[in-house]
Amino acid sequence: MNIAIIGGTGVYDPRILNNIREQVTPTPYGVVRFKTGEYAGKEVAFIPRHGSNHSIPPHLINYRANIWAMKKMGVKNVIATTAVGSLNPDMKPGDFVLIDQFLDFVKNRTTTFYEGGSRGVAHVDVTTPYCPSIRNVLAGEAKELGISLHQQGTYVCTEGPRFETPAEIKMFAKLGGDVVGMTNVPEVILAREAEMCYATVSMVTNFAAGISPQPLTHHEVLETMQANTENIKQLILTAIER
Ligand code: HPA
Repeated sequence: MNIAIIGGTGVYDPRILNNIREQVTPTPYGVVRFKTGEYAGKEVAFIPRHGSNHSIPPHLINYRANIWAMKKMGVKNVIATTAVGSLNPDMKPGDFVLIDQFLDFVKNRTTTFYEGGSRGVAHVDVTTPYCPSIRNVLAGEAKELGISLHQQGTYVCTEGPRFETPAEIKMFAKLGGDVVGMTNVPEVILAREAEMCYATVSMVTNFAAGISPQPLTHHEVLETMQANTENIKQLILTAIER
């Protein structure tokens, strides 16, 4: 197994793959159930981050178990999707953003495998947190498919599950954030610790609180996501072919 897809909000359906099988993988952090299948002659793992019916909120996702299970399966390359709000007027609902940096505003999550003890202590380098080679492939594919994709963007990760206040959004924009979501930390960090090549395609589902003229709803996020799932599927599948 070389490739995994971590599906975010709106990307729950493993049927983009053929010959699907259920995998049950024990890890030190709990058992992970996910699907594996085939595409273009390659074996691909698929984990819907929030569960197959969006039953796991962002702050309760077992990020360490998910990444550990993939590592154990031999996964080397991970393409993750995330739904995000935008703080950047150029990044509009329906656009994709190929994240290249993050700002970590999570509060109550363990963001490392290295907690001392038998696994020791490590300080992983995150100068380039997102895999340049997968990002290059995705950027090239998006161009060919005519999909509107920003080639760089800074992802602000909040604890959630609430949306942000307009004051927080103003602060994040001042700090250089482009988009805001609730899941990329610690996922990207753990993938890095596990020495996997990890990239995130974010889909802008809304302008963030205070920029958007109306209060945010999860329904709005899902609606935009649904309208664009075909694009995100196509983008990921053509990248897998490469
Ligand atoms: N904030 C945080 N997470 C999100 C948003 C948002 O505006 N939209 C989609 N996920």
